[in-house]
Amino acid sequence: MKRIVSGITATGNLTLGNYIGSIKNLIKAQNEYEIFMFVADLHGITSPINPSTLRKNVSEQLKTYISCGIDVNKTKLFKQSEIIGHTELFYYLTTISNEGQLKRMTQYKDKSLKSSNKTNHIPLGLLMYPILMAGDILLYNAEGVIVGADQKQHLELTRDLAERLNSRFKLNFNIPEPIIPKIGSKIMALKTPTKKMSKSDDDINETVFLLDDLKIARKKIMSSLTDSENKVYFDEKNKPGVSNLLTIFSAIKEITIEESVEKLKDMDYKKFKESVADVVIELLSNIQNKFNSLTDDDVKSALDKNKLYIQSEADKYINKVTKGFGIR
Ligand code: TRP
Repeated sequence: MKRIVSGITATGNLTLGNYIGSIKNLIKAQNEYEIFMFVADLHGITSPINPSTLRKNVSEQLKTYISCGIDVNKTKLFKQSEIIGHTELFYYLTTISNEGQLKRMTQYKDKSLKSSNKTNHIPLGLLMYPILMAGDILLYNAEGVIVGADQKQHLELTRDLAERLNSRFKLNFNIPEPIIPKIGSKIMALKTPTKKMSKSDDDINETVFLLDDLKIARKKIMSSLTDSENKVYFDEKNKPGVSNLLTIFSAIKEITIEESVEKLKDMDYKKFKESVADVVIELLSNIQNKFNSLTDDDVKSALDKNKLYIQSEADKYINKVTKGFGIR
């Protein structure tokens, strides 16, 4: 069975964008692939974060994964920092990475600019972030990685590093392929549909969180930005708001954009938004019901379930790398 790795950074509550862009696809892939799915708490500290906020994010994120339908009898669910090897492989990979490639990453450019505007400095963790991510993937020798469109560049780096390990040390790491969903790989912000919906956006009205109060979630969708044409059709360039809502609708209902347009095209924007809100609320309400029934013990036993196996896989590939370098 092919192996897939995926993770989400623990910087906030999970969003509709996380669900559509990665969680949903993981759930669908659970029967076909061996999936390693984790909460990226180490990535969560690349920018300053309050420790109790981080703890809360990690625990809620794990519960949310399970509530969305991650089944630990199939999927290997874990917390990144609990498996020994992520930080270690990270270090080894820094020694074969180069600064230029890291500085060219779009996410680094955006985040470092924001950081230097705010604090006058750029944490080195921001620059190293993609190497840590490459380590997450190579530590399990994954063949595929489920990511949103914005992470594609980071995966390119992972592929380069895998090739470098293979050619320098005669290893045979897989060169992992990105698995990016056809619909919804990038869900946009609700009021500024030209930027990505993000769990760390300063304005919470840009984002639907999976644990949002249902009334508030509805309100956010009803007040999302559209345009003045009052006609429902898909045109990402000229109608980013309407196109984003169509994408959300299609992804949740698992139909094509054309099928959604066919269903919704005769509606005015108010009705259109109501229809989108209805499917979103139904999804959120299912997730939240499950979430509220889960205890901390449930999460703990979910994490314990495959821990030994996950660690033994990580050990296997760390050993290959350290031997390769001549460290052991
Ligand atoms: N960088 C990803 C994000 O923004 C999270 C992540 C960390 C990840 N390591 C990964 C995703 C490995 C896929 C594979 O959420």
